[in-house]
Amino acid sequence: VAAEVRLALTGFGNVGQGLAQLLEAHSEEYERRYGVRLLLSGVADRGGAAVASDGLDPGDLLHAKRVSGTVAAASGGEANLAGETFLDRSGADILVEGASTNFTDAEPGWSYAQSAVQREMDVVLASKGALVLHFDRLMAMAGRKRRRVLFSGTIGAPLPILELADRVLVGVRILALEGIVNATTNQILTVMADGASYEEGVRAAQQAGVAESDPTLDVDGWDAAAKAVILARSLFNASLRLDDVRREGIRGIGPADLAGARSRGETYKLVTRIWRDGSLVLAAVAPECRPLNDILGRLRGQEMGVVFKTDLLGDVTSTVQDTGGVPTALTVLRDVINLARERGWAR
Ligand SMILES: NC(=O)c1ccc[n+]([C@@H]2O[C@H](COP(=O)([O-])OP(=O)(O)OC[C@H]3O[C@@H](n4cnc5c(N)ncnc54)[C@H](OP(=O)(O)O)[C@@H]3O)[C@@H](O)[C@H]2O)c1
Repeated sequence: VAAEVRLALTGFGNVGQGLAQLLEAHSEEYERRYGVRLLLSGVADRGGAAVASDGLDPGDLLHAKRVSGTVAAASGGEANLAGETFLDRSGADILVEGASTNFTDAEPGWSYAQSAVQREMDVVLASKGALVLHFDRLMAMAGRKRRRVLFSGTIGAPLPILELADRVLVGVRILALEGIVNATTNQILTVMADGASYEEGVRAAQQAGVAESDPTLDVDGWDAAAKAVILARSLFNASLRLDDVRREGIRGIGPADLAGARSRGETYKLVTRIWRDGSLVLAAVAPECRPLNDILGRLRGQEMGVVFKTDLLGDVTSTVQDTGGVPTALTVLRDVINLARERGWAR
């Protein structure tokens, strides 16, 4: 008999709906492959929430959201249901946090993550705020409750980064990392390199579901800098604040720069770097001119990738073609299944 794993999901936008679509289409396959039945026992958006301990119907949630704009209109739904009452009534094993976030107070994710850990739920984060502002506090809190906080979705989902570092680069020292970890800016720069305007690039990224609701977070490099903070903490054991990341966005790159680069066989990319300088760990986000045939220069559209600079293996690379809501939801699914494996519920 498959173990039942209950998920409480906060946020029902690109990522949350992507997860509901995956569960609607593939729950039975997941049950066969992994031996767990994944149930959405609670889903919240800004309009309220729906809860059902024996699992909400993903199709009904998607329909209610499309028609009424909120999951509160779905079966089991209530306007104003939120916060700790929502978590309690969901009876979930795992909180999946996929709401919009910010780097000022990291809400609502920070409160939800703390409340979930206090209730002995494990946590899977797609939102970055809580990690950028409170990484150590959250992990310490989770450690005291013997809970896990996984966050593959926050750093260039669905790229395998943490798993590659943790499971593959065993015995290998990561000296530095460089990567394209923001799909929106890569899409904008690609479209502009092909001759389109900045505005057309932003629209393409929004249609693909990769742009943050406020694209300034992407184009001014905040999103990439936030990822650098999380990567520096998790791969280099360094606590950087967002302000410590030297940050330059892509607004300064115009069509003439891209045309000039192209005539030299190069193109502009927004590159995130983390490196060691003696005992210090430094990070920067800035546009760079890259040869069109180099590993990062080749990445077009929404593609993302990272290069680990290592002592014993040289460059180790990971790239991915499809990003956006559903691929991020797949990354959340990967954290959920791997958590269930750690707990002995899944195979
Ligand atoms: N899209 C991606 O490719 C991607 C990749 C990695 C990480 N992420 C992160 O994942 C999160 C979700 O991304 P997204 O693309 O799905 O964003 P989105 O489409 O803008 O959806 C955000 C969702 O959060 C909900 N929300 C906002 N405040 C809330 C609150 N106080 N309580 C409950 N729900 C609340 C919104 O509710 P309403 O629907 O009622 O407005 C909406 O459903 C973000 O933090 C984003 O940075 C996204």
